[in-house]
Amino acid sequence: MTDLFSKAIAAAEFIRQRFPTRPRLALILGSGLGDFAANVADATVIPYSEIPNFPQSTVAGHSGKLVLGHIGGIPVAVMQGRVHAYEGYLLNEVTFPVRVLGLLGAEQLIVTNAAGGINTRYGQGAIVAISDHINLTGSNAAVGPNEPRFGLLPNSGQRFFDMTTAYSPALRTLAIAEAAKQGWTLSEGVYIAVLGPSYETPAEIRAFRTLGADLVGMSTVHEVIIARHMGIEVLGLSIVTNMAAGVLDEPINHEEVMEIGKRIAGQFTGLLTALIPQLGERRGA
Ligand code: HPA
Repeated sequence: MTDLFSKAIAAAEFIRQRFPTRPRLALILGSGLGDFAANVADATVIPYSEIPNFPQSTVAGHSGKLVLGHIGGIPVAVMQGRVHAYEGYLLNEVTFPVRVLGLLGAEQLIVTNAAGGINTRYGQGAIVAISDHINLTGSNAAVGPNEPRFGLLPNSGQRFFDMTTAYSPALRTLAIAEAAKQGWTLSEGVYIAVLGPSYETPAEIRAFRTLGADLVGMSTVHEVIIARHMGIEVLGLSIVTNMAAGVLDEPINHEEVMEIGKRIAGQFTGLLTALIPQLGERRGA
């Protein structure tokens, strides 16, 4: 069996043949947010099914395409759709695209998701910057033999790696400032990750609130762990698609969860298109 690093190199080389420019930034679009990929200029679109070793998403609303091009002049690689552990994928598969994007040279990752709101100060449709996470999925994507060759950036690729600033305070500050400039408040919150696919019980949500969580979802943390293993700087954004179980006196409706992304698309697009050129400039890369 080919090892993970060789598989990731094969995928990266395939993508580089179609889009030779180094993407400075990678963006993962969560549930209901896939339409943002239309903002990529001069787009090269590659279905995941064509990329060697790439996992295919099975959930409706995750169309499964890699969109490469430019946003505000910055070369970007946008993942329209992701796979989740609850679909039955191994964490090596869930995080494979992040490894490939890292090998392509992305030094920053914006990871987005749909989340349930545990913090009652959030309303449905709120966009929240993730300040930290609690991984309650029961595993960790970095389990297995350490592969130092994934550490292309300084101080990365180590067996044990720091997660103190997994969600970059600097990137978050830029995002908060840009939202304020656009006339709205980008709140911050702690994201707790569960395996899913069932939504939580009200008792679980009360317990998560006690643990210090503001948002709950079924993705993101493993991608962030692998990004940090590679030294990639991360900005995490959650869309509160629903209040978490038991917060309101009503069941959670998956169709509604998928609809919210469309409702806040203008605000989400406004923030990201203004922010991405600022992120690119920070490093002067
Ligand atoms: N729980 C878990 N994941 C989610 C939720 C939720 O309430 N909403 C969107 N993704």
